[in-house]
Formats: sequence, structure tokens, C-alpha cells
Amino acid sequence: MNSKTKTKMKVVFLTPEMAPLAKTGGLADVTGALPKYLSRFPEIEVAAVMPLYREVRMKNFVLEQVFPRHELRWPGQEKFFSVFEYRAEGFRVYLIDNPYYFDRDYLYGTPEGDYPDNGERFAFFSLAAIETLRALSFRPDVIHAHDWQSALCFAYLRAVPGGDDFFCPTRLLFTIHNLAYQGLFPREILERVGLPASLFNPEDLEFYGKVNYLKAGLFYSDAISTVSPGYSREIQTPEFGCGLDGVLRKRSDRLFGILNGIDYHQWNPETDPALPAHYSKDNPAGKSVCRMELLRRFNFPADSNWPVVGMVSRLAGQKGFDLLVKSLDELLKKEAFLIILGTGEAGIQNLLLEVQKKYPDRLGVKIAFDDRLARLIYAGSDYFLIPSRYEPCGLTQMYSLRYGTVPVVRSTGGLKDTVFEFDPATLKGNGFLFEDYQPEALVSAVNRALAFYRREPFWSKLILNGMECDYSWEKSAAEYLHLYSRMLSWPVFRSS
Ligand code: ADP
Ligand code: GLC
Repeated sequence: MNSKTKTKMKVVFLTPEMAPLAKTGGLADVTGALPKYLSRFPEIEVAAVMPLYREVRMKNFVLEQVFPRHELRWPGQEKFFSVFEYRAEGFRVYLIDNPYYFDRDYLYGTPEGDYPDNGERFAFFSLAAIETLRALSFRPDVIHAHDWQSALCFAYLRAVPGGDDFFCPTRLLFTIHNLAYQGLFPREILERVGLPASLFNPEDLEFYGKVNYLKAGLFYSDAISTVSPGYSREIQTPEFGCGLDGVLRKRSDRLFGILNGIDYHQWNPETDPALPAHYSKDNPAGKSVCRMELLRRFNFPADSNWPVVGMVSRLAGQKGFDLLVKSLDELLKKEAFLIILGTGEAGIQNLLLEVQKKYPDRLGVKIAFDDRLARLIYAGSDYFLIPSRYEPCGLTQMYSLRYGTVPVVRSTGGLKDTVFEFDPATLKGNGFLFEDYQPEALVSAVNRALAFYRREPFWSKLILNGMECDYSWEKSAAEYLHLYSRMLSWPVFRSS
């Protein structure tokens, strides 16, 4: 390391996914973009650690081996991993390679459910990440871990008797992307992953008779952040706290809500290679070419004037598909197309394919994970629907705004922080919202939105307002940098 980098603040991201390497949802977009934007500040050096999944290998990235076969201290057996490096824009990513744990079809589980050994897999990842940094003599000023899959790292660093001298001055930041996913495992997991049985108590990792990995992130961190100001308030209430609101209220002086950004360079209708035509707010003509291509792809008449409502989503309870299905009879009375792209839980997949048969001329469903098609939907739709039960931040409304597509969203979490009801009197606002998790509320918001479809001067202004929003990463990255600096001025946190 040269003398210039020596003075830089070193931050290491620990994450179970990162775009473009491997992605199931918004977490990957965030951990792919935030380090890139952080690394543009001269005072900071960023690196990241994530598992080397099959998905990464299949995509043929250029990977360089950092070290081969490294032994991991693991209870009762010898376990090994090796490390590869991927050079992302502005930062390095260290990839933990253990084919037994990570060379699988999916990241976390199949549509039928989670892999039964996820507790071991992500404990292994956390421990291997620590050993990688040690082996590289890379002592970060801040370890910034994301979601339950990375949280156990903090238990290894802060909850094991004797602690870890090498990382003693390192501050720990944990980001909650989704409080509902906590990593719950039977009590025996502690012994299996080399943690003391004494951690099985409510002040540490015990949670209603199970071990809760996320609690390691909440209990042993110097600070906690979450992905929107709205969600940071919501998770301190019993309604959204998933049983952990008490813990979060206790730590509220160290809990920060920082709104996610989106990568305006990667997501740009003027240059996006996935689109058949490009456009901008000043030159919007290309959008209708995208619209026609989208209709064609779903076998709908490409020259139709009906409005197109798009959805791109993980198929999970959080995303409000039960509400959507209950609203369909009413919604699809309208002359409009609804186009859904999603993957996830088998139950929701089957339900959507079933209802699709009922409305073949206006409902299009594609079960797949397809980034290019997702981009065509953001660009080619007129509206974008997000009926989430809860939404920590949500990136898809921001992508829609960026692509000139009007969001209709449930008023919750980060959706509420980024979408503002259009007011025809003032011509302000960028979308439409509904509060109650009820079909009538959803249908009424969609109807309000459709009432402005291609009606001037409203329609052009509505689209323009969205395209002029600035949800780029620059501002939020600066907030993270500020938080890291503050953390370094605090004494290292010890839970009591
Ligand atoms: P979440 O992380 O809860 O899934 P976000 O709105 O934060 O929700 O991010 C979702 C991300 O995943 C977006 O980049 C979206 O385009 C992408 N995505 C979701 N489902 C699919 C899919 N089936 N195909 C392609 N991209 C998808
Ligand atoms: C989670 C949340 C989503 C958020 C994303 C990135 O997956 O469900 O709302 O945008 O993480 O932070």
C-alpha cells in the first residue's frame, strides 16, 4: 500500500449479493453501487467480501486468485476456502470460494424454500471474510455488513470470549435492508458454527427459542442503519418491528435511516443497452418504441393505445400479490394492460400463472429473473405498480421515475419517502399513493392515475416531474461517509 492510501479511511462491505456478480433483489444493486460512489471520495478506500456463487462463475467475470486453500477454524472438522478477486469500478471484491456451500443453483434456496444449511453457509461466509482480511493484513476502520447473512461476523468479532485483537479498533456498521429476514436457526447451530452456547440468551442471539443471526448485527454493532428514513421509524413500532422493535428502540440513538440511491449511470434511458430505442426528458420519442416492443414481447397488439401498467418484483409475501390478485377483477375491467415479471415463492408463481389464464387479453405474466426484460418494462410501461405490504426502501419506483414511468405505490417505508401524490392544481408530485391494504384503496389509486393518462398538460408534467427527481447515489454516499466518520469518533461499542 502506498503512502497516499495509508491515510485513507478503510471500509469493508460484507454482503451476500452484489450486482452485477450475483443478484436476487435490491440489496445487490445497493452493494454494487454504494462502494463505487464512496470510492469517488478521496478520503476513503473501499473493498467488499461476498461468496463466490455458481451464478458468479457462470457469468464469466475476470477473477484473479488471491490465495488458494486457506484453512478455517471450524468446530470438529477441517474446512477450507480460497479467495478470488474481482475488480469493480473503484473497489475490489474478495470472493469466498467453497464449492460445497456456494456452488449451487440459487443463492439462498429454491422456489420451494430456503437451503436447510443456510445457518452454516453464512456463518462460514462471515468467518471466512474475517480470515481473509486478517490474511491480507487488511484492518478496516469500518466493517459495513448487510442483512442477516453477514451479521454473524459481528458475533465472531465482539461476542467470543477474549475478542479479536486484530479487529479491536474496527467499528461495525450493520445495515438492515429487510427486517423480516432474520436468519432463524435451532439452538444447536451455535455449537456447529463455533460460537459459545452462552450466547443463547435474549440479551445476545436467542429469539423465541431460536438463534437469530440478525440480532448479532443489532447487538454488537457500533451503529445500525436502514435504507430509508421512513423505515427507520417504522421498525421501531410493533407493527413493522418483526419482534425486534424493542431492541431497535433501545438503540435508537445509534439507528440511522439513509435513503438508498440508484446508479444513474447504470440505469439511464439515454444509454441503456437493453432498450430498443433511447430517450430522455427533452427527447422522449424513444419511449413509445420501447412500449411497442414491450407489448409485442407479451403478445399484445403493439399499436394499442391502452395504458400499460408494469410490475417487476420478487414474488414474496412482502410485495402485496395477495392484494393485487384480490383487486384484479376490478382493475382489469379497465382497458389497460398489466405486465408482471417476477420470480420467487412457488405459491405466488402458480397463483399468477393461474389468474393470467382468466385475462389473456390484458394480463401478461413472465416467471423469470431477467434484467433486460425488467429494463424494458421500466421503459415501456406508462405506470408502475408497487402494492407492497411493507417496503424498506424499494428501488423499482426510482427506476420507474428515471425511465419516465409513473409509479402507483402503497404509502409505506421508502415508497412514501420517494413518491409524492400528483396534484393537478399545482402540477406538483410524481406518482400516486394508497394507504389501506385493501383492494378498494389500490383500485382507487390506479383509477386516479389512469384519469391523467395522456391528458395534457397533466401527463407530460407528471412524467417530467418523475424524470427530474434526483435519487442518485451522490447524496446518500456522502451521508454514509459522514456516518463512518462519526463512528470513528465514538468509543468502540460494547453491549451490556
Ligand atoms: P427487493 O430488494 O425487496 O426485491 P427493490 O425494489 O429494492 O426490492 O429491488 C428489486 C431489484 O431487483 C430491482 O433492481 C429489480 O429490477 C430487480 N428485480 C426484481 N425481480 C426481478 C426479475 N424477476 N427480473 C429482473 N430483475 C428483477
Ligand atoms: C430489501 C428491501 C427493499 C430495499 C432493498 C435494498 O430487499 O426489500 O425495499 O430497496 O433491500 O436496500
